[in-house]
Amino acid sequence: MKAAYFLQHGGPEVLRYGEVPDPVAGPGEALIDVHAASVNGADWKVRSGKSASITAFPHVPGRDFSGVISALAAGVTDLRVGDAVFGVCDAGREGAYAQKLAIRAAIVARKPDALSHVECAAVALVGLTALVSIEDTLELTSGETILIQGGAGGVAGFAVQLAKHIGARVITTARAANHAYLRSLGADQIIDYETQDFTQVVSGCDAVFDTVGGDVAARSLVVLRPGGRAAFIASRGVPLPSVRPDVALLRPNVARDRKHLERVVALVTGGAVRVPEITLYDLSQAAAAHAVSEARHLRGKLVFKLR
Ligand SMILES: NC(=O)c1ccc[n+]([C@@H]2O[C@H](COP(=O)([O-])OP(=O)(O)OC[C@H]3O[C@@H](n4cnc5c(N)ncnc54)[C@H](OP(=O)(O)O)[C@@H]3O)[C@@H](O)[C@H]2O)c1
Repeated sequence: MKAAYFLQHGGPEVLRYGEVPDPVAGPGEALIDVHAASVNGADWKVRSGKSASITAFPHVPGRDFSGVISALAAGVTDLRVGDAVFGVCDAGREGAYAQKLAIRAAIVARKPDALSHVECAAVALVGLTALVSIEDTLELTSGETILIQGGAGGVAGFAVQLAKHIGARVITTARAANHAYLRSLGADQIIDYETQDFTQVVSGCDAVFDTVGGDVAARSLVVLRPGGRAAFIASRGVPLPSVRPDVALLRPNVARDRKHLERVVALVTGGAVRVPEITLYDLSQAAAAHAVSEARHLRGKLVFKLR
C-alpha cells in the first residue's frame, strides 16, 4: 500500500511517500480502506522524536481517520465489511497516513451520512480531546467562565464551541488574524496575545483549558479564582506548575472509545459544533503539511484526502 512514513526521526523532510507493507488485522480488529486522515499537533512531535522514540521503521504516523471497512477479524459482530467508519487509533498506536489501517473495531464509530470522510477525519481526535477535557475533566457548567488558550487551533476551536454550547462564557487567545474566525465560533472575548498580556486583562475564571503549553500554560494559573480548575494537554512530560495550591491542576486522559466519538457526531450533526476550517493535502505532501503544523499558527485542520 501507499503511505507517508519516516525511517528516522528528524524535520519534516524525513517524511517520504511510497510503498510500505499492508497492515494485518489482529484479533478484534477491523481493516480500513482509509479515505481521509488528519494532521494533529502530536504528529510532528512524534516525527521529530520530541514526544516518543520510535524504534520500528518504517513508521507510518497519523492518529485519526475516516474510511470504509474492508475486512473484519473473527469475533467482531457489530460492524460489517462495507461500513463507513471513523475513529482514533489506540494510545501508542499510529498508522493513519496510509491507504489501509488496522484498528480495534470496538473503538471506531459509524460515519454519519451528513458528514464527509474529510469532515469526520478532521473532528475525530480534536473532538475527542475537547470533549474529554471540557466535559469529563473540567466538568464545565453553564454560567461559568473559561479561558481557552490557543483558540484557533484544532482542539481549541472545538472546545470554544463546546464550552459555548454548555452555556459558559468563553475567553480565548489568538493572533489578530484569527479573531473573526473565533468570533464566528462564538467566543465572547478574544485576546490578541501579541499585543496584550492575558494576565493583565483576565481574572476570576472558573476554568482554564491550555492547548499551547510552555510559559503560556504556567502563566495561565494567574487568571483562576480560588478553587478553579485548569486542564493541560500541550505539556506532556513537563511537570505541572505548582504556584497555585488553591486550584486543581488536571491532565485529561483522552481515552479512545465509540461512545465519545458518537457524542462528537451528535454535537456536529446537531449544529452545536461546526467542522473546523479544513485545508486539504495529498498524502504525498505530508512533509509540507507537517511544516505548516509545526509552525504552530495553523487555523483549523489539515486533512489528507486519499480517495
Ligand atoms: N493530551 C492529548 O491527548 C492531546 C490530544 C490532542 C492534542 N494534544 C496537544 O494539544 C496541543 C494542541 O493541539 P492542536 O492539534 O489543537 O494544535 P494546532 O491545531 O496546531 O494549534 C496551534 C494553534 O496554537 C495557537 N497558538 C500558538 N502559539 C500561541 C500562543 N502563544 N498563544 C495562543 N495561541 C497560540 C495558534 O494560533 P495563532 O495563529 O492565533 O497563534 C494555532 O491556531 C498540541 O500540543 C498537541 O500535541 C494533546
